[in-house]
Amino acid sequence: MPILLRVGSSYGILFRTILLRRENVLSRRVTLTEVFTHPIAQKYLRRSGVAHAVAVAFHAFRLAVKHGVNPDLAAKAALLHDIGHYEWYTNGEWDYEKYKTNDIHAIKGAERAHKLLIRLGEERRAAKEVALAVLLHTDSYLPEGSLQQKPLQQIVKLADELDEEPGGKHHYREIDPDVALKKIQQLDEMIEKQLNPIQKSM
Ligand SMILES: [Fe+2]
Repeated sequence: MPILLRVGSSYGILFRTILLRRENVLSRRVTLTEVFTHPIAQKYLRRSGVAHAVAVAFHAFRLAVKHGVNPDLAAKAALLHDIGHYEWYTNGEWDYEKYKTNDIHAIKGAERAHKLLIRLGEERRAAKEVALAVLLHTDSYLPEGSLQQKPLQQIVKLADELDEEPGGKHHYREIDPDVALKKIQQLDEMIEKQLNPIQKSM
């Protein structure tokens, strides 16, 4: 973004605000509940941990509201951020070395998230933003270097880190399926209120 870097700081902030507002006006064609309840999402969410995905979605929503980022895209990307995980087991035991060497879950997850959202009827630009946030929520699979992330991508990364437990235990935390669904429906209502503030007073 060389043009953005050359302009004065106040113009830079204004330009960034306009960009965020443009991102915020993306129409919301698909609810979080529709994403969450889709059989493909359920299959992969169970693999990487439903409780973790739901918790990260809430963290991402809160951070998005705080920082003026689209809360719908943040919650969707956070919910789906780990759906690319594969099960790296050796003789029935989790093999961390194998995982560390071979893992590409962010790449897989981005592709799966994009495919799922398009299948559900999501707007293409929104699906791309979510996929990119899933792709860049971690740099563990990338060569060392400076990765420049957009605010939406930073939020999903931070939300994920807020729910992490030592030894990857967050992937195995349990949640009752009915409770998980209720939480997602509740988050949907919170997103709707953020995107349509008039509803707040109704
Ligand atoms: Fe995660």
